[in-house]
Amino acid sequence: MRVGAWRWWMGSTVTAAMMAAAALAQPGATTQLEFVNTLMPQPAQLTIGEGWLPVAPGFSVGFDRTHDERLETAVQRDLRRLENQTGVMIQDAAPGAAATLTISVDGPGEAVQGVDEDESCTLDITPQHALLHAATDVGAIRGLETLLQLIQADTRGFWLPAVSIQDAPRFRWRGLMIDVGRHFEPVSVIERTLDGMAEVKMNVFHWHLTDDQGFRIESKLYPRLTGMGSDGQYYTQDQAREVVAYARARGIRVVPEFDIPGHTTSWMVGYPDLASAPGPFSIERRFGVFDPVMDPTRESTWEFLDKFIGEMAEIFPDAFMHIGGDENNGVEWQHNAKIQAFAAAHDLHGTAAIQAYFNQRLLPILTKHGKKMIGWDEVLTPDLPKDVVVQSWRGFDSLAAGAKQGYSGILSAGYYLDHMDPASAHYRVDPLPANSGLTPEQASRILGGEACMWSESVSPRTIDSRIWPRTAAIAERLWSPRTVTSEDDMYRRLAVESLRLEALGLTHISQESASLRALAGTPDIDTLRPLMAVLEPVDFDTRSKWSQHHGVTTLSPLDNLVDALPPDPPSQHDFGDLMSTYLQDPIDHPEIEAALQETFRSWSADPRRMELLSTSPQLAEALPRAQQLAEMGTMGLEALSYLSSGVQPPPGWKAQKLAILDEAQKPVALTRFTILPAMRALVNEVR
Ligand code: ACM
Repeated sequence: MRVGAWRWWMGSTVTAAMMAAAALAQPGATTQLEFVNTLMPQPAQLTIGEGWLPVAPGFSVGFDRTHDERLETAVQRDLRRLENQTGVMIQDAAPGAAATLTISVDGPGEAVQGVDEDESCTLDITPQHALLHAATDVGAIRGLETLLQLIQADTRGFWLPAVSIQDAPRFRWRGLMIDVGRHFEPVSVIERTLDGMAEVKMNVFHWHLTDDQGFRIESKLYPRLTGMGSDGQYYTQDQAREVVAYARARGIRVVPEFDIPGHTTSWMVGYPDLASAPGPFSIERRFGVFDPVMDPTRESTWEFLDKFIGEMAEIFPDAFMHIGGDENNGVEWQHNAKIQAFAAAHDLHGTAAIQAYFNQRLLPILTKHGKKMIGWDEVLTPDLPKDVVVQSWRGFDSLAAGAKQGYSGILSAGYYLDHMDPASAHYRVDPLPANSGLTPEQASRILGGEACMWSESVSPRTIDSRIWPRTAAIAERLWSPRTVTSEDDMYRRLAVESLRLEALGLTHISQESASLRALAGTPDIDTLRPLMAVLEPVDFDTRSKWSQHHGVTTLSPLDNLVDALPPDPPSQHDFGDLMSTYLQDPIDHPEIEAALQETFRSWSADPRRMELLSTSPQLAEALPRAQQLAEMGTMGLEALSYLSSGVQPPPGWKAQKLAILDEAQKPVALTRFTILPAMRALVNEVR
C-alpha cells in the first residue's frame, strides 16, 4: 500500500508523479534510477535492461525505411504529445543521420483494417538508442503509445528506461460501444473518445447509431429517418466519414450498428410502412423494450433495407455491419394477423423463429453490399450461417455455446459501463477464462470483447466520466496476458492512466468539479470535497427503477448530483486498501492511523458544507449524506481510539454503529457511499 495514496481522494492536488518525484528528491533517497512501470495495458513481454535513455534537447526521431502518410501523421501527433509532456523539443533526424528513436515499419497494413490486422510491435531501448519495430502502421501506433507511457521523470529530467518489449494483443477485437440513440454525442466527444481508445490500444469503435429514441445518421435516400426521427441530432454523412478517418488514423475500426428489427421506433416515425402495426409513431422518450418491430412479410421492407444498407456500406468501410437483433418482444408480430398467417405458412413458430427468418433474409443483403453480419446474442438461432459473429450481452455461457457451435463471438456481458460497477469487477471478467472448457479451435473463435456505454443516463457532459478510466481496465483485460490479474497493481496504474487520459483532453476528472461548481453556484466548493470523494452513483437497477417511478425520459436533465459523481472514484479502492492494511495490525501502523484520523475529521459536520448544500435544491438532496458522513467520522475516530487503547466500547456501541452503516447503505439522491465495506470492517474489529 502506498502511504499517502489517501491524499488523492481527500481533494489534495498531490499526484502519484509528484509523490514519486518528492520521494526521489528526499535526502538519502536512492540515486539509482528506477523504472516505475505504469504501462496500461501491460505488454505481452517486458525485460528491463541497464541504464536509461535521456529525453533531452537533441532527441531526434527518424524512419529507417519509407513510410506512408498515416504513419507520418501518427508519429508527428505523438511527438507533439511527448513535447507537451516533457517540454523537450523533439527533432526530425537529419537525412542519413542516426536518430535517437528509429521507427522501422515493414508496410502500411491492411487498406481497410480487419480483425486479423497485425498489431504487434517490439521496442528496444538502450542508453544510446530506441528502436520501434512493427509489421504495420497499426503496430507502430500501438508501440508509440507504449513509448509515451514509458517516459519517466525525476529531478534530473525525463528519460526512457532501457527495456526490451515484445508486444501483441491477446484478443483481436477490443472494442467500445457508444449508444448515441438515447442520448446524442457530438463528433467532438466521439473523437476525444477515440483518442482515449488509442491510448489504451483499443481497436474497435462500435457506433450504436439507431434506437427507439433516435435515428442518428443521415440517409440521403430516406431523409425522413433523421428528418422526423432525430430531433435534429444526427451525424451528417460527411461527419461519419470524418469519424471513420479519425479512427483509422489511430488504428481503430468503426463498426456501425443499425439495430433491427426491434428497437426501431425512430425509423417508423418517418416510414411507418416499415412497422408491423399501424402508425403513427413518435420518437420514444422512455427507456425499456418497446413493441415497434419491422414487418418481415412485406417486400417493401426488404427493398428499403437493401437500399439503406447499400448507402451505409459506402460510408462505413469495415467488413462488419452490426444489425442489433436484441430485445424484440414480438408483440406487434403476435397481434398482426397477416404476419401470423405468414408465419404459419412458413412453419415459423414464435417470435424467435420469425426473427431467424428475418435474419436469413437480411444476410444476403449484407453479403451483397460486402458486409459480414454481427448481432447481439438473440441472433444465434438454429441454421444461422457460421460466419455471423455473435456479441454476447447475456454472459460467457452464451458466448461459449456459440463458440462450440462454430460461431465467432465477442463478450460484452460484464463490461456494461452503465451498470456502475468498479473497474475491478470488469477486470475480473475474462472473455476466455482458463477453465473455459473450450477446445483450442473453439477458443480461437472468441475474438475479444467490448465495453458498452448505453446512454439512458449519459450526456455529452458526463460521458467521459462514465467511460474513463474504468475502460482502461477492460482494455488491459483484452490486450494483456491472462496472467495479468493483480487488482492492486491495476488500480495503481489506473490512477496514472487516468491523468494521461485527461492530458489527451478527456474530461472524466475535471467534469466533477465543474458540475459541482455549477450545482453550488460558487467556485468555493472545497468544503464539499470530503463528501463527494466518497460518493458514487447507485447501480443501474436502482437508477432505472427510480427513473421509471419518476417518469424520467430522454428529455430529462442529466445535471443532478448523481451525474456529477464518477463511478468507482479513487476513494473506493484506496480507502479500502488503507483500512485493510491498518486492520492487519492496528498497533503497528501509527502513520496509517494518523491518516485515518485526518480523514475521519474531514468528515465532520462542517457548518459551511451544510450551508452550501442547503443553498442548492439539487445539492440539498444530499444533506442526509453529509449527516451520515459526519456520523461515520465520529464512529471512525471512536473505533481508532478503542483499537489503539485496548479500551472496550460501552455495551451496544457496535450494534448502534452497524445500524448507522446499514442506514447509510440505502440510496439517497441516487448516490451510494464507497467506504461502507471498510467502515464495517473497522467497526467489526472493535471488541
Ligand atoms: C442489449 O443490452 N440489449 C444489447
